[in-house]
Amino acid sequence: MDRIVVVGSGSPLTGEVRVSGSKNSTLALMAAALLGDGETIIHNAPRVRDVSTMIQILQSLGAQAGWIEGESNSLSIDTRGVNQFEAPYDLVRQMRASFLVLGPLLARYGRARVSEPGGCAIGVRPIDQHLKAFEQLGAELSLDHGYVEAHGKLSGTSFSFDMVTVNGTQNAMMAAVLTPGETIMENCAREPEVMELAAMLKKMGADIRGDGTQHIVIRGVEKLKSVEFQVSGDRIEAGTLIAAGMITKGDVRVTGIDPALLGSTLEKMREAGAIFDIEKDNVRVRIGTPTVGVSVATAPYPGFPTDMQAQLMAVMTLATGSSVIVENVFENRFMHVPEMQRMGADISVKGRSAHVRGVEKLLGAEVMATDLRASASLIVAGLAAEGETTVNRVYHIDRGYERIEEKLQNLGAVIRREG
Ligand code: EPZ
Repeated sequence: MDRIVVVGSGSPLTGEVRVSGSKNSTLALMAAALLGDGETIIHNAPRVRDVSTMIQILQSLGAQAGWIEGESNSLSIDTRGVNQFEAPYDLVRQMRASFLVLGPLLARYGRARVSEPGGCAIGVRPIDQHLKAFEQLGAELSLDHGYVEAHGKLSGTSFSFDMVTVNGTQNAMMAAVLTPGETIMENCAREPEVMELAAMLKKMGADIRGDGTQHIVIRGVEKLKSVEFQVSGDRIEAGTLIAAGMITKGDVRVTGIDPALLGSTLEKMREAGAIFDIEKDNVRVRIGTPTVGVSVATAPYPGFPTDMQAQLMAVMTLATGSSVIVENVFENRFMHVPEMQRMGADISVKGRSAHVRGVEKLLGAEVMATDLRASASLIVAGLAAEGETTVNRVYHIDRGYERIEEKLQNLGAVIRREG
């Protein structure tokens, strides 16, 4: 099934929808399972393509990994059988986050050979900061025909990242938790996915302080035990569903999410005219006044998330007035713009800034998904467009959204898969 057809019915989305577990958190936790001495169980994991790819990566290392029969969102990962330390190109190229196995393999087995992830549609996405962390910890690194080879005995150290990197911080944490001595890491990422990884590592017996701040201190321990862990709700999926509620002027309650993780997203949407009722594990969104244009610049957490940039832009295309959206994190994350222009959006891009002028209406069109969040933004735009929008290459969205069309159908959207 390669495309999703959305019929902008003009009617508002209403009702309640539960988000799946965080895709990005789950990927890091699956890599961290390599540090445990037995079977790790991860509950509330989303059944999305990226998780399937990570299952294959773990299996290729010799671990037993897969979904638990009868528990639709629980994973079992048993690393007692790990007997080889190479993550192959054909899997890593499908999902860059596969590179997260390097830190745990190096920490537990003293060796790893992982294909360089390479860039993707949204940017070059180098891994120099990951390598810097491993080198600072004492690993011998070499580049061999597109693979990063790492080996050696690690020892505690101090270093600072040159820029904030989520997976870089996570990879370094996983390399340091079994490393003798104290490791002090500065300029770390503060994302909830970093904090959730630290929470599972601490449950496994790791000694980590400062997670959630830019200053993380880790004291190495002898070994880590495998645990059961529950993934939190996906904050980006929650933001995406809230954007769908906003653009259709609906009344949607998104459940299974800690609203505290949505701080800057809700703040910006409130500025645009959204009304939120916030409870412990859910957020209800309605629209009071007409949506107005707002300006935003993406930034590392707690700033406005780059993963919500395209979805907010979709809402802004129909807002009253103008907005300026600056993408500071990735160098090429405006590929949804030409597709939205095909739908009648008035957007002009100059460098890292997109200037959006609200229009009366969008017209449904054939559009092309280019990356995970761009494809979600085109579905959001299609919900409010006049007529049919066909989003092609929808495998992008299946990487990170579980049953998205079903969730939207349950809110009243007219949406179907085809092809
Ligand atoms: C994580 O990617 C997420 N992916 C991304 O989500 C998210 O957009 C990104 O963090 C930023 O929040 C996963 O967690 C699997 P970075 P990551 O390293 O860690 C540069 C999605 O849609 N950089 O924080 O790879 C990099 O090029 C995906 O779910 C270096 O230069 O992102 C980028 O410009 C997309 N050298 C910036 O830092 C490095 O060694 C931030 O990237 C590492 C990063």
